[in-house]
Amino acid sequence: MSASDFLVLNHVSKVYRRNQSLIERLKKSESGGTKAVSDVSLTVRHGETMGLVGESGCGKSTLARLVSGLMAPTSGEISFPPNASGNKSRLQMIFQDPYSSLNGRWTIEDIIAEPIRVHKLRTGSAAIRARVDELLVQVGLSAADAEKYPQEFSGGQRQRICIARALAGEPDFLVLDEPTSALDVSVQAQILNLLRDLQKNLHLTSLFITHNLSVVRIMADRIGVMYLGELVEEATSEELFRKPRHPYTRLLIDAAPDMDTSDRSLHPIAGELPNPAFPPSGCRFHTRCPFAQEICRNTSPPQKATESGGMFRCHFDLDLSDATVFPPAAQVRMA
Ligand SMILES: Nc1ncnc2c1ncn2[C@@H]1O[C@H](COP(=O)(O)OP(=O)(O)OP(=O)(O)O)[C@@H](O)[C@H]1O
Ligand code: SF4
Ligand SMILES: [Mg+2]
Repeated sequence: MSASDFLVLNHVSKVYRRNQSLIERLKKSESGGTKAVSDVSLTVRHGETMGLVGESGCGKSTLARLVSGLMAPTSGEISFPPNASGNKSRLQMIFQDPYSSLNGRWTIEDIIAEPIRVHKLRTGSAAIRARVDELLVQVGLSAADAEKYPQEFSGGQRQRICIARALAGEPDFLVLDEPTSALDVSVQAQILNLLRDLQKNLHLTSLFITHNLSVVRIMADRIGVMYLGELVEEATSEELFRKPRHPYTRLLIDAAPDMDTSDRSLHPIAGELPNPAFPPSGCRFHTRCPFAQEICRNTSPPQKATESGGMFRCHFDLDLSDATVFPPAAQVRMA
């Protein structure tokens, strides 16, 4: 652990168990539950944005909930080393759906003031109201909006309110789980721009989750790629795009149109995503990997460190820097 480490995940796993039916028990078809997060080790450093990408169901939100303390890992440890002043880090989350994450019976002032009151960051109603007004302006709304209710706002405006509420808690760490994917394409870029400005101005440390590589490319300093609960590659944003080391990363890059941050234009990658309750043996990606060999089907690949401090999990050191390494059939364009 170094002084710059902010958040450290050490071999973290999360299994969702479920009750089996009688037939399943008789057939002994127990999967042991869904291992939504499997042996993930990861470090987020002070002041950086760590991006997490992967297809639907790969365990991104589960990891976000574990980091946020909303649930405990089945095994492994998650630690926030104390900051320089010895204080405990404060964490806030921004979720995907700005419709369900705001209480419709509260005014915007009540909603944004709550973390200020809980953490006793201002005292007296005048000071709290002044802070609420300041935050509303900071996220591109106006002080007059404080009197209104969530139903009076569009999706994009509601997400701005969620961001204001998160900032109101003066967090050291922000967890953003698909913060723009429920929004209209036209407002996604506005919210991303707002988040980028805030990152820059407030020097926040954050975990930014998305299934869109184009989004994470502009938002994150480093990126972790998840596949069926495992972290299969981790690198700086620049390196990940210039020199991906895992075939899945290469396929994700090829599936994300350049600089297109809208979620509708993503192309699915070839092959069906296996059921996370029954992950393939050996390398979990072998059923979709054009480079799979016998060893991939039987043996889980080791985690290999790269020269530049990243890592990947593959039996081979493949040169994937060229987009043409995959035959066109490896990618499927959405009609
Ligand atoms: N509360 C739960 N109980 C049982 N299984 C769950 C639960 N939450 C998630 N899962 C399963 O765990 C796996 C990972 O889910 P998770 O929501 O973390 O994925 P995700 O990467 O966030 O997906 P998405 O991109 O669709 O949001 C999935 O197979 C999902 O069905
Ligand atoms: S270990 Fe084998 S199947 Fe897995 S990514 Fe590498 S080449 Fe593909
Ligand atoms: Mg999710």
